[in-house]
Amino acid sequence: MDLLIKGGTVVTAQEMVRADVGIEGGKVVEVASHIDATAAKKVVDASGKYVMPGAIDAHTHFKMPFMGAYTTDDFLTGTRSAAAGGVTCIIDFALQSKGGSLKQALETWKGMAEGNAIIDYAFHIAITDCTPSILDEIKDMVQEGVTSFKFFMAYKGSLMVDDAALFESLRVTSECGALGAVHAENGFIIDVLQKEAVARGNVAPKYHALTRPPEAEGEATRRAISLAKMAGAPLLVVHVSAKEAVRAIEEARMAGQIVYGETCPQYLGIIDASNYEEPDFGGAKYVCSPPLRTKDHPPVLWDALRFGFLQEVSSDHCSFDFNGQKRLGKDDFRAIPNGCPGVETTLGVLHNEGVNKGRISLNQLVALVSTNSAKIYGLYPQKGTIAVGSDADIVIFDPDKELVVSQKIMHHAVDYTPFEGYSVKGWPVMTISRGEIIYEDGEVKGAPGRGKFVPRKPINTKLLLA
Ligand code: URP
Ligand code: ZN
Ligand code: ZN
Repeated sequence: MDLLIKGGTVVTAQEMVRADVGIEGGKVVEVASHIDATAAKKVVDASGKYVMPGAIDAHTHFKMPFMGAYTTDDFLTGTRSAAAGGVTCIIDFALQSKGGSLKQALETWKGMAEGNAIIDYAFHIAITDCTPSILDEIKDMVQEGVTSFKFFMAYKGSLMVDDAALFESLRVTSECGALGAVHAENGFIIDVLQKEAVARGNVAPKYHALTRPPEAEGEATRRAISLAKMAGAPLLVVHVSAKEAVRAIEEARMAGQIVYGETCPQYLGIIDASNYEEPDFGGAKYVCSPPLRTKDHPPVLWDALRFGFLQEVSSDHCSFDFNGQKRLGKDDFRAIPNGCPGVETTLGVLHNEGVNKGRISLNQLVALVSTNSAKIYGLYPQKGTIAVGSDADIVIFDPDKELVVSQKIMHHAVDYTPFEGYSVKGWPVMTISRGEIIYEDGEVKGAPGRGKFVPRKPINTKLLLA
């Protein structure tokens, strides 16, 4: 046996049990109440700790060209940060360029990850230019292990696709065993509101949120759900931030439609729309889309997580330096590159805000940050659980470790964390990827390039209904 994790409490989406975990050849080979240590090459003492499936962050943007800049974190620094946060697999968005093919997008993103990634990675492709030949290419991408595709209903004039393109694409993704995902905000209305705001001289960061009202998210979510219904396709709504969008997903799910929803820690109440008022252009740090909402939205999101209307929490790590990149928009909020970092903080923040505050159970935490994403995105049971035969992707989590989230302790390359000053009890202390300890007590040990591309299976909506 290569590695034995002894004395911990194994927490999966289903159970919480005192057990040892034996690992060989990068796989879990035994889970039992007592495993003899004599034959183990290395033993890790996990007493007093949780032994959980490594988190799967299904929403990252590493080295992505966007709004006149490239995201600061690339596949090296992004996956370094991920490893330190207990994440063992990311699904990044390869972006189709206008006129470019999906194959080109995939090759470009694979090229950026290879030789750099510290943890395993997979890709979605964001389709921005939906021609017949591109629709034809979707099945080829599914063969390559890319089984989810994102469509933007916002970012008019750059990434946005229209309803016809979305509808036709959803028909094709569904036929090919792939999942269509949407960024659901009404880009037309946002464009009108933004132009009006700027014409009135309202150019500060707070107008980013005021020109992207929750109703624009609710409307687009409802529309995407209707289009998916007409297309006979399952749908995933990424980065849900508004109660209007939650209600749309709830209603569709209650009516039996297969609609999944993701939210992100930045929408769960630790920070909110009031942060846009921070002085000295500080509000720009929180400019992401959808924007942070007012305080009445997070409780609805928490209820949706608890009752299963939203199934997964990922970071939407899309990092732009505050000094330099975000300041591109100092005279006009529309030029602030959209996005926040968070791949390192999702697990600890969700544990503190969710489990410690009694909003979700420990099993739900594991489901939301790992198991459900594995099931939704075709990675289960290779990833997303601790079971014999699964990849030994494991996070050892110390529920008693207290720390204050701060830029000083982050492993990313970007120059801030939106959760600065947030105190937690409980944090990952060791990350194991395919049986190798890649992070321990503050230090990332995994070598750049050790992470592998993980081809995903076609989507199986029978795996996760509730
Ligand atoms: O502001 C965000 N979320 N930027 C990343 C692109 C996206 O829409 O996911
Ligand atoms: Zn988006
Ligand atoms: Zn995103």
